[in-house]
Amino acid sequence: LARRLTLNTGAAIPTLGLGTWQSEPQVIGPVIRHAIEEGYRHFDCAAMYKNEAEIGRAYKSIINDGLCRREDLFITSKLSPYDLFPDKINDAVNKTLSDLKLDYLDLYLIHWPHRIKYPPLNTTDTSHVEPYKENWMKDAWIILENIFKEGRLKAIGLSNFSIKKMEHILSNSTVKPAVNQVENHIYFQQAVMKKYLDSKEILMQSYSPLGSPQRSSTAAEDPTVLSDPVVKRIADTHNATPAQICIAFLLRDNKVVLAKSVNPIRLKSNLNSLDIQLTEQDYKDITAVDKNYRLFRARFLRPYSTYKNFWDEDF
Ligand code: A2P
Repeated sequence: LARRLTLNTGAAIPTLGLGTWQSEPQVIGPVIRHAIEEGYRHFDCAAMYKNEAEIGRAYKSIINDGLCRREDLFITSKLSPYDLFPDKINDAVNKTLSDLKLDYLDLYLIHWPHRIKYPPLNTTDTSHVEPYKENWMKDAWIILENIFKEGRLKAIGLSNFSIKKMEHILSNSTVKPAVNQVENHIYFQQAVMKKYLDSKEILMQSYSPLGSPQRSSTAAEDPTVLSDPVVKRIADTHNATPAQICIAFLLRDNKVVLAKSVNPIRLKSNLNSLDIQLTEQDYKDITAVDKNYRLFRARFLRPYSTYKNFWDEDF
């Protein structure tokens, strides 16, 4: 399987990255070091994950120790919905750079297509969220384009954007998004999105490739990716784990896969997915288990009428 793909900027991106969401600040530092020792070079971070300062300290000591060079690493971060306001974007980029102890990011994404004016006052406070509007989003994109042109961001992209919202950005931009990072796993294969992104030369980044077993917003009816019987059978034939098969399946489609683990054994075995060669039949069989089932349904937003179409689709 390809270890690197090329962004529409011309830069190379390692196809398997380590996710850092829900990696506790007190554990993530040694995890980053261990991951680099095992061969990870791509890290997917975000201001919202509240662990960038610890990750930054790890990068700094790793680079100081000569374990790898900055230019060998591919580091992504994301603009929080709290900072998706024209007067906050530049400071947010600088804060993330300072936390991560870097002078540039390889990729910077708009994390979500809505923005948050202030922390929710209580669980029923709906007005803190400002729903997506084409106009303010375009303004935000132009600010990111300018920072990209200055060089602090080597590539810029989107996350959790529907095709409709991406069209708004594309119709008015001078810098095309390099990626759209979206939920993507065997039960949510996103064939339509992938085809669209391919047609625009935009890479798909897959989050929750293992079905995010750790997420808090679970529902009783949610299917469990790692227990899929077809995946289990195929894992046995390859002497592999279900997680490795799930990752290899996405990589085979030229997607950039972001798998999270803070466990040294799982982290290493996830990286070894790159060595798995699925047969045509394996690929077909796994394609057929798709349920078009979104696990991240933004249920927290559901009661609010403005968010009936959060994903620009019915759910
Ligand atoms: P842990 O960090 O303890 O390994 P996703 O990337 O889909 O969000 O999934 C991440 C979750 O899956 C984390 O809870 C992680 O826990 C767990 N996980 C990561 N790798 C594996 C694996 N190889 N097998 C089972 N669970 C895994």
